[in-house]
Amino acid sequence: MVVTSDCLSGRSVVILGGTSGLGLATAKAAKEAGADVAIAGRDPEKASEAVTELGGGVVSGAFDATCETDLMAFFNAIEKVDHVVSFTGEQPKSPVRSTDQRLLHRAIDARVSVARHACVHASPRMPTEGSFVFCSGVSSARPRANRSAGAVATAALESFVRAMAVELAPVRVNAVCPGAFDTDVLRKSLEGDYSEACERLSGGIPVGRVGRPEELAHAVLFLLTNTYTTGTVIRVDGGLLLI
Ligand SMILES: NC(=O)c1ccc[n+]([C@@H]2O[C@H](COP(=O)([O-])OP(=O)(O)OC[C@H]3O[C@@H](n4cnc5c(N)ncnc54)[C@H](OP(=O)(O)O)[C@@H]3O)[C@@H](O)[C@H]2O)c1
Repeated sequence: MVVTSDCLSGRSVVILGGTSGLGLATAKAAKEAGADVAIAGRDPEKASEAVTELGGGVVSGAFDATCETDLMAFFNAIEKVDHVVSFTGEQPKSPVRSTDQRLLHRAIDARVSVARHACVHASPRMPTEGSFVFCSGVSSARPRANRSAGAVATAALESFVRAMAVELAPVRVNAVCPGAFDTDVLRKSLEGDYSEACERLSGGIPVGRVGRPEELAHAVLFLLTNTYTTGTVIRVDGGLLLI
């Protein structure tokens, strides 16, 4: 599923958190659309499996993207950077009384500091038609109990996107806000039998099912290629937030 089959031809797309789930689906879609793709995650084994799954010809890195110097070194090792997408993030389950400053900062670092480091180190190398897409989550608008750190981080990320759209213009900066998508993260977060839990969850989603990762990737490709969209958060949630 691509916006058009060669819409990213000749472009280089760096995907932080591109080694599994929504990021890997986005890497596949970008490659299919003709882009040169670079992916990164923390786990080297996952990164090499992802490269194999993508069919080779993909640059990969294994490092923690919250570390500014490691992220800068990764960008510097890539010949050309037209677009950067980031899926890094954490949604720790922790009541507010146990959410100390360290945990709060970890959640904010995983999403907002990575976005900040990416903007600082990639934007000077980008062409004027370059862009960033960051990933938030529906917790930005509808927090769940015991997950305040992740909710704060998704909301802050969306605000950061609007600020960067103004500051880095004409480079464009946008976000995708996924609802429930069928990835390992969702499988781990749903307690009990996955199919039953998924059916229950689907009952509360207007389109009647959880999302497929390629449907989220489709929205990212739209944001990378639509040259008049910036400072926007696109919700891809099957209508989850409407009810
Ligand atoms: N799936 C959903 O239903 C859903 C819903 C709402 C929001 N989201 C958000 O969407 C994003 C992707 O979710 P997903 O389901 O695709 O999860 P996933 O499969 O765990 O993907 C996360 C990716 O980010 C990498 N990563 C995480 N922290 C990193 C860090 N500090 N430095 C470098 N790489 C890092 C992971 O690799 P390593 O593990 O090797 O580090 C992996 O490649 C997350 O931010 C999540 O909160 C997902």
